[in-house]
Amino acid sequence: DAGKGEYDHYMAKEIDTQPTALSNTIEGRVENGNVAFEDLPVGTFADVETVQFVACGTSYHAAMYGSQLLRSAGVRAEVLRASEYEQTAGPVDENTLVVAVTQSGETADTLDAVRRATDRGARSLAVTNVVGSTAAREADDAIYIRAGPEVGVAATKTFSSQAVTLALLTQRIAADVPTATPVDDREAMLESLEDLPEHVETVLETTNAESLAREYIDSDSYFFIGNGLGHSVALEGALKFKEITYEHAEGFAAGELKHGPLALVTQETPVFAIATGDDEKTKTNAIEARTRGAPIVAVAPDDHPIADAADRQLSIPDTHPVWAGLLANVQLQLVSYHAAALLERPIDKPRNLAKSVTVE
Ligand code: G6P
Repeated sequence: DAGKGEYDHYMAKEIDTQPTALSNTIEGRVENGNVAFEDLPVGTFADVETVQFVACGTSYHAAMYGSQLLRSAGVRAEVLRASEYEQTAGPVDENTLVVAVTQSGETADTLDAVRRATDRGARSLAVTNVVGSTAAREADDAIYIRAGPEVGVAATKTFSSQAVTLALLTQRIAADVPTATPVDDREAMLESLEDLPEHVETVLETTNAESLAREYIDSDSYFFIGNGLGHSVALEGALKFKEITYEHAEGFAAGELKHGPLALVTQETPVFAIATGDDEKTKTNAIEARTRGAPIVAVAPDDHPIADAADRQLSIPDTHPVWAGLLANVQLQLVSYHAAALLERPIDKPRNLAKSVTVE
């Protein structure tokens, strides 16, 4: 299981085994419409007033996802770049929960942010993939994303498992915090989570990512836009693309495109427009880019309105909006992978990057 097996790269294997990883992530954590985590009994978050997520890189994008979901459940939450913690954290006290999101559990910036928060009285929780990692040992509590070992430097399956774990954690926290306002369709969201591994399988089996990567491989630059949860997916899509292809890629909140980046848009700038349910701004801004000649790729369900504004589509199954971004992200992982393969990049070990950065 530890080897590459039939795959050319660990990254390909790790993308392809996401249905299993996600099934493991979810297993036993949703029971009778409630979210349960071992060692975190009901009431455990009753004193929490503010949640600060701290993370780096891909984990930061998963943390953005979790933070937005927690805010929509009425809990005060923010996401901070771990390397900027000292300058950006603001007030912290014993009613602050600092959540370290770290695949490896060893990222120096993230560990440092947690230590700074706990020195000021915060309670800490590690969300990690590695049992016994420094983050898991040092934090007051730990929950595991259960994605299995990830070898490729570019994080793939661990993003999916982190985002799901954090989405469940937000429901768990909101259930305890007295001032939280439960999300209306919580039940539907938890029910549809059961279908997520199968939907990922559908994406893997039906994707046209390779031909799309081939079509746009000579472009100058690659833009990724989304709003709401789609914003974090846009940032993650661009990060993955630049990490392994060495091509210029940027992710934006869709509405920001017109405040500067639009100046860079030409016929040589494909724009990936990510639909996650709340997509009006993504659609109108995709149209703005298209008017300037940019090819638009909708990453959306087949009959989604955004597809009308697009030249090409990466199709995703129709699902609850909370999970749609994860399906879009799998399509974008595949585009990055195939683009990097066409460019003959060393996909599993991109230059200058390390799987785990243990220096600040
Ligand atoms: C490095 C890796 C990234 C990863 C980041 C955070 O920069 O190259 O892929 O997202 O560290 O790692 P962590 O283990 O804390 O999630």
